[in-house]
Amino acid sequence: MSLSEIAKSISASPTLALNEKAAILREKGDPIIHLGGGEPKSKVPMDALMATAAHLNTGEIRYAPADGILPMKQAVIRYTEEYYHRHVAPENVIISSGAKQALMVAMQAILNQQEEILFPAPYWVSYPEMAKLVGAIGVPALPEDGSFYPRIEDIEQRVGSYTKAIIINSPNNPSGAMYSEEFISDVVQFCEKKNLYLIMDDIYHRLIFDGKKPISCYDYAKDFSENSKLIVINGVSKQYAMTGFRIGWAVASKKLIEAMTNIQAHQTSGPSVLLQKAAVGALNGIQSSVDNLRMTLENNRNVMMDYLNSFEGVRVSQPDGTFYCFADFSNYMKDSTKLSNFLIDKVQVLTMPGVDFGLEGYLRLSYCGSISDITEGIERMKWALDLNSPNELYIGDRKLVRDWA
Ligand SMILES: Cc1ncc(COP(=O)(O)O)c(C=O)c1O
Repeated sequence: MSLSEIAKSISASPTLALNEKAAILREKGDPIIHLGGGEPKSKVPMDALMATAAHLNTGEIRYAPADGILPMKQAVIRYTEEYYHRHVAPENVIISSGAKQALMVAMQAILNQQEEILFPAPYWVSYPEMAKLVGAIGVPALPEDGSFYPRIEDIEQRVGSYTKAIIINSPNNPSGAMYSEEFISDVVQFCEKKNLYLIMDDIYHRLIFDGKKPISCYDYAKDFSENSKLIVINGVSKQYAMTGFRIGWAVASKKLIEAMTNIQAHQTSGPSVLLQKAAVGALNGIQSSVDNLRMTLENNRNVMMDYLNSFEGVRVSQPDGTFYCFADFSNYMKDSTKLSNFLIDKVQVLTMPGVDFGLEGYLRLSYCGSISDITEGIERMKWALDLNSPNELYIGDRKLVRDWA
């Protein structure tokens, strides 16, 4: 079959392949534990459901403007004032089908063929593929000190004449690291000085622990003119557990939002009006669900850390936010894809291979499920990998016998 060069360059998602494998095994009745998940398990806020139902009941569900409905833009403006201390106009806001589409149209609006977009590693799996989709090149920047906290020097070193943009995702998927105010300040000022676009992927910015407060990139910006190249991305997927609603947004200069709107208009049109109404309900409604989710995740994080810290041979640093941690399993197996497959085959625990996030030898483990998923999942992994553990393991009334060394 003759496919485009772009189609040929996009690899099948190994993450999806593992998810499918787990789904097939679960359907067969295998007791799968999912430590690979990317979505909170809490319920959608009631205000979001009521707003959707109210609009559905009108029986008139029409096209939305390509850049989003005004009440949703107003909700984003209010949100930006509250969390970013910045007043923006409706023309500075575009509503997209998920943060993913907001990121994608931003890249389509700013990147030319062969230009580079840089991001700290480990990174979200989609960044390099999104860059490829616009013919650009994703460049990972691994912190030199071996931590998950980049310094501005790590970024500077990789910026060259082809660099057009930088993406910062803090707290970070997959490491859970929340970058310091100093780093955010440095990177905002560096991009202003070098005239680079800076995309802040803030999708997890309220899911942070230990009393931390969300950081606003605007607090460090100097250029608030139409030439500003700062783009803030956010959405309802993670903080409101509304992944299936597919609503995200971008805040940027009016010129850039206009360009992104033109692209989105031809690509998908505006996101469903019904789902935007739901997002308005979530953003303007009672915020207790976000606090509850954050507290649940912090507790889950603590349990996950306790279990991993007592897992000999595994190195992990404590996440500051998100619902992921990124643990070094290279003492057990260097090839993280093989290790993931081994764990699903032997003890039915689904994990995500670190190589897809830019670091081989690591696994991304999610703690967005139940406490029993976390504890039993890690126990099973320990049994499979630590050859000093007993030869047999019971999963329910099923007896597993180790037949590997
Ligand atoms: C870092 C990061 N950015 C963006 C997204 C996309 O979010 P959305 O569901 O709003 O498209 C995700 C989802 O996993 C993510 O992890």
